Amino acid sequence: MTASVDTRYLSADPDGITAAAELLRAGALVAFPTETVYGLGGDARQGQTVAAIYAAKGRPQFNPLIVHVPDVQTAQIYTQWNDTADRLASAFWPGPLTLVLPLRADSGLSSLVTAGLDSVAVRVPAHPVAQALLRAFGGPLAAPSANPSGRISPTQAAHVADGLTGRIAAILDGGACPVGLESTILGLIGAPTLLRPGGLPSEAIETALAQPLLSHSDGAAISAPGQLASHYAPKAAMRLNASSVQPGETLLGFGPECAGAALNLSPSGDLTEAAANLFDHLHQLDATGASIIAVAPIPAHGLGIAILDRLHRAAAPRDS
Ligand code: TXA
Ligand code: MG
Repeated sequence: MTASVDTRYLSADPDGITAAAELLRAGALVAFPTETVYGLGGDARQGQTVAAIYAAKGRPQFNPLIVHVPDVQTAQIYTQWNDTADRLASAFWPGPLTLVLPLRADSGLSSLVTAGLDSVAVRVPAHPVAQALLRAFGGPLAAPSANPSGRISPTQAAHVADGLTGRIAAILDGGACPVGLESTILGLIGAPTLLRPGGLPSEAIETALAQPLLSHSDGAAISAPGQLASHYAPKAAMRLNASSVQPGETLLGFGPECAGAALNLSPSGDLTEAAANLFDHLHQLDATGASIIAVAPIPAHGLGIAILDRLHRAAAPRDS
């Protein structure tokens, strides 16, 4: 269970925005308006904060999150920018368009934001309150829609309050969201590919690029795996719920019982810390050339469910 917190209701005036930015700097979660839907924002560089976003939503899976930035220059800090991105940003940013680009190696983003992938989704929201908040905060905001998992996206502060009161530090009330639909997501790892239809019509993108978009279901897109929202899978084989370590295995520990583990997701047995460390530790074990990763038992509640979901996918047989 996530402990209940007092959720502050902030109006979107200079004082409210200053208070929201301070909470974000302290690693707390703040729901804020964008032109599409309300986002559940947290510092995209702080792993424990990003883990707390998933916990607050009760999301049983770690889907990668969109990183919100105030302008194109800031987007370039986190991505390997290219000409297509430049054309689209000039035409449609700020606005309801998210671009998926290769992640910059030195981005400083939490690996949980990208769910361990080497690409990142970025967007520059147009809403004046989102813009003011991003500038006051001065960093990248990870923000999925501000609703509990399985519920519809909120387009008013009251919708956010219904779903998340007691689970987040504050709600910044900027009135109703004008677009009311999530952003359009375009993959730019290779040929431009529509990953999610949304607030910006795909025809407008095709006109700006003077070329048709591939869609998620096109064979061409599927033959280029980098274009799909695929999952990070370690090179090593995985054995889950390992109560002991076999010869040839490297232990990924959890909790105080695993004091001798090569790496421990959380020596104190804290699931938020474990979630924040998950993808970093898998990457590190891969980098050391581990051939079999034995993962200690993880409790199947709270964030443990999403951690186990990812570990099960990582342990599943591969196509190639
Ligand atoms: O309008 C919006 O986009 C709202 C507002 C708050 O900005 N945000 C939003 O976030 O809808 P969310 O977390 O509900 O949706 C993020 C989507 C997911 O479907 C995820 O799979 C995709 O973005 N995504 C994020 N990073 C990705 C990546 N590296 N590759 C492919 N897809 C990615
Ligand atoms: Mg959503």
